[in-house]
Amino acid sequence: MRMVDMIEKKRDGHALTKEEIQFVITGYTEGSIPDYQMSAFQMAVYFQGMTVEETADFTMAIVESGDQVDLSAIDGVKVDKHSTGGVGDTTTLVLAPLVAALDIPVAKMSGRGLGHTGGTLDKLEAVPGFHIEITDKEFFDLVNTNKIAVIGQSGNITPADKKIYSLRDVTATVSSIPLIASSIMSKKIAAGSDAIVLDVKVGTGAFMKDLAMARELAEEMVQIGNQIGRHTMAVISDMNQPLGYAIGNALEVKEAVETLQGNGPEDLHELCLTLGSHMVRLAGKADSTEEARKMLEEVIQNGKALEVFKLFLRSQGGDTSVIDDLSKLPTAQYQIDVPAKESGFVSAITADEIGTAAMLLGAGRATKESEIDLAVGLVLHKKIGDPVKVGESIVTIHSNTEDVEAVKEKIYHAYDLSATEVGPVTLVHDEIT
Ligand code: URA
Ligand code: CA
Repeated sequence: MRMVDMIEKKRDGHALTKEEIQFVITGYTEGSIPDYQMSAFQMAVYFQGMTVEETADFTMAIVESGDQVDLSAIDGVKVDKHSTGGVGDTTTLVLAPLVAALDIPVAKMSGRGLGHTGGTLDKLEAVPGFHIEITDKEFFDLVNTNKIAVIGQSGNITPADKKIYSLRDVTATVSSIPLIASSIMSKKIAAGSDAIVLDVKVGTGAFMKDLAMARELAEEMVQIGNQIGRHTMAVISDMNQPLGYAIGNALEVKEAVETLQGNGPEDLHELCLTLGSHMVRLAGKADSTEEARKMLEEVIQNGKALEVFKLFLRSQGGDTSVIDDLSKLPTAQYQIDVPAKESGFVSAITADEIGTAAMLLGAGRATKESEIDLAVGLVLHKKIGDPVKVGESIVTIHSNTEDVEAVKEKIYHAYDLSATEVGPVTLVHDEIT
């Protein structure tokens, strides 16, 4: 086979066979296919698209370019949840213990990412002593006994994706639906779970800015997953404002605990129940999402979900006295209120800018080497639709430096007020099975 023929075939709108796709991915990963040919190929995909079969083959070829996690030592149906990324998204912290409380195994692999706030792993490190340096055997044993554990990422997962993604970044081919879908799904499939619940975010603070695009991406990923034999479904949820009120590591742990106690923000609670009920259903623990939702509500009300969260933290060295007394979590030196400059109703909160404001405080990493400050972040007091009086605090900044002018500027910029009443936002736009 010759790469030039693959490029020509795709350029002219034909579908590649499985063998041809394997040739492209293997050759590019090994280095026998150069960047310039892969660039041309990706641009052809950008314009011509790929069929579901091609995208599934493309995904599997990426999966097979590296190691695959074997979770067969864990009993039961392993269900994973993946979010396409938002601001202040505390759902994983809540959902993991919540579904584990219903005996669904949660086997999470976590790495440190870049972003507005830390990853789940960074957030959990707000609990003193908590660590993920455990052996594979300890990890499997913990999941089998407690139904939940987190281990650091090891092995060489989807090397083809790393190479392809970097090339897409500099060739204007990031926003191709089949390329995004195969990139995300390859990582999920290599991570070894049996079933996958996707949370596709849509809105100003998300990768997908409009609903039609988000729906297309969600449908494509669901088709790929099911084609490959992993039960997959997607929820399309709103990211036109941050989820919940807290953005920051320790602040989000506090918010997650409150949500597990049934006292969390309405939108975070609702999204966790929506995603969680699909996880419970896919795990075979309930026949319908209605039944699953009742089961989840019960483990929140009877305290089991919070108990499982504490057991999980303790089993990995965490001091859970900070969960019993949330004021013992890392706390920033200064709490500075941001007063509204005028009265009105909140009509928009650009989640991206709120995220950048949190990052300026040190809540997230700009580069891999950045140090995270677990204590800092933002607590919003007003969400879309809320009435605001001039002088009233819209946000409290939690900072370890006194000068927060640049952060305030971002917050004022992120918030739009309207003189007239603003209707409520839709949280869950669609569910795709
Ligand atoms: N996230 C990914 O992992 N891959 C993409 O292509 C886009 C977003
Ligand atoms: Ca939040």
